[in-house]
Amino acid sequence: MNQKTVTKKAPISTPLHDQDREITGKVLQATLLDLIDLHLVGKQAHWNVIGRLFHDVHLHLDELVTAARGFADDVAERAAAIGISPDGRAATVAQGSGLPKFEAGWRDDRDVVQAITDILEELIRRLRERIDETDKTDLVTQDLLIGISRELEKSHWMWQAQLAS
Ligand SMILES: [Fe+2]
Repeated sequence: MNQKTVTKKAPISTPLHDQDREITGKVLQATLLDLIDLHLVGKQAHWNVIGRLFHDVHLHLDELVTAARGFADDVAERAAAIGISPDGRAATVAQGSGLPKFEAGWRDDRDVVQAITDILEELIRRLRERIDETDKTDLVTQDLLIGISRELEKSHWMWQAQLAS
């Protein structure tokens, strides 16, 4: 057996030190699960919302779904770029997402807006913790998380604004 078959080299190299890569990879993986869940919950709500605000909420939810999908892709690809294999399988998402549960069945429009507002609030709280965690490990990932948080905080405002009257 030659040396090459004994030591399996990681397929993707990265400038990050092992420990920084590991911490950053965990942050990205956890964020990926939350964002895929947001995308799934957004579609669930899009299909199940009922009430007078149906049309606005239905369309607003698809904007959120599109954003969540894009962010999930950015996060997964950042993980890959630092040599961490992203895991976005349904079973992994079901087990690892930290977002509040969204109940099944038809959902009243204002109830949906409140639920989405609460989900975004928790997601933003988790993202801000991860922004702190990546401060010493990888500023490029931190920059990505800051950009995502900025957009989700804007979205959180817009969802809240629908409830204010
Ligand atoms: Fe649709």
